[in-house]
Amino acid sequence: MALDERKRMLSALGLVDWQPRVDGALAQTASRVPTPVAAVEAQTTAAPTDVETSADTRPAAAASHSVAEESAPVPAPAAAPEPDETSRPAPTSAPGDEFGPVSSMDWQALEAWLATRDHRGASRPVFGIGARDADVLIVGEAPGANEDAHGVPFVGRAGKLLDRMLFAIGCSRETNVYITNICKFRPPNNRDPNPDEVAADWPVLERQIELMDPKLVVAVGRVAAQTLLDSKASLGKLRGSLHRYPRRELDVLVTYHPAFLLRSPGQKAKAWDDLKQIARRIAAA
Ligand code: URA
Repeated sequence: MALDERKRMLSALGLVDWQPRVDGALAQTASRVPTPVAAVEAQTTAAPTDVETSADTRPAAAASHSVAEESAPVPAPAAAPEPDETSRPAPTSAPGDEFGPVSSMDWQALEAWLATRDHRGASRPVFGIGARDADVLIVGEAPGANEDAHGVPFVGRAGKLLDRMLFAIGCSRETNVYITNICKFRPPNNRDPNPDEVAADWPVLERQIELMDPKLVVAVGRVAAQTLLDSKASLGKLRGSLHRYPRRELDVLVTYHPAFLLRSPGQKAKAWDDLKQIARRIAAA
């Protein structure tokens, strides 16, 4: 890996670089590049607040993968995995009540319709944030406590790491990616979303994908990956190559959930491989 690239990666992922000193001993150097990364890091290294739990510490949708897989420098989309008994509900058009069918709603109507749905104990829906005309859609699992409090996806520690990772490849929610979740309401007690919850919210994500028409969906974590790809394969198996979204001309790249990376920083180098692949796919779009 080129030195600059290595520095960028270490900096974005909040790791420390080690450089040989003139006397041959190893000297620890901060591999930070000046602002805005450093600014974000300063934020994220601050002590977590007491609400800084939630999906960031949810026991491990994303952690149940095998860490043995190595990412290949992959390129060509693999065939979509054979659908099996799936965690992903068949595409439906849910009844839209007075709004009309979900499949013909625009962004505004879709968001308003979601707000009328059963919140399943959550404080509010978390619809999504970012550039609706972006080429890249990031899909997580479900809101946690921070997201439930703010109505915005990925605003806790995991979200800050996600932002730093995106920043490292020239992406941000302010400019060129859209971020949402499989489930739009925080599951009670921060547990993994159950199949009924996934099914209830699926039409919204499906419509978001239709409206956005992205070139690439990045599924972060096991729940997002399995749901989007209609597969029960482990995250370790799905990660590292491009997949084809069922029934659409759309690539899906699977990567680790940032909450998992916070717990397992040793996997950040593989996450960096995934980021480079995202950057290549964006450049090719
Ligand atoms: N984890 C997720 O999967 N989504 C969020 O919005 C926050 C944490």
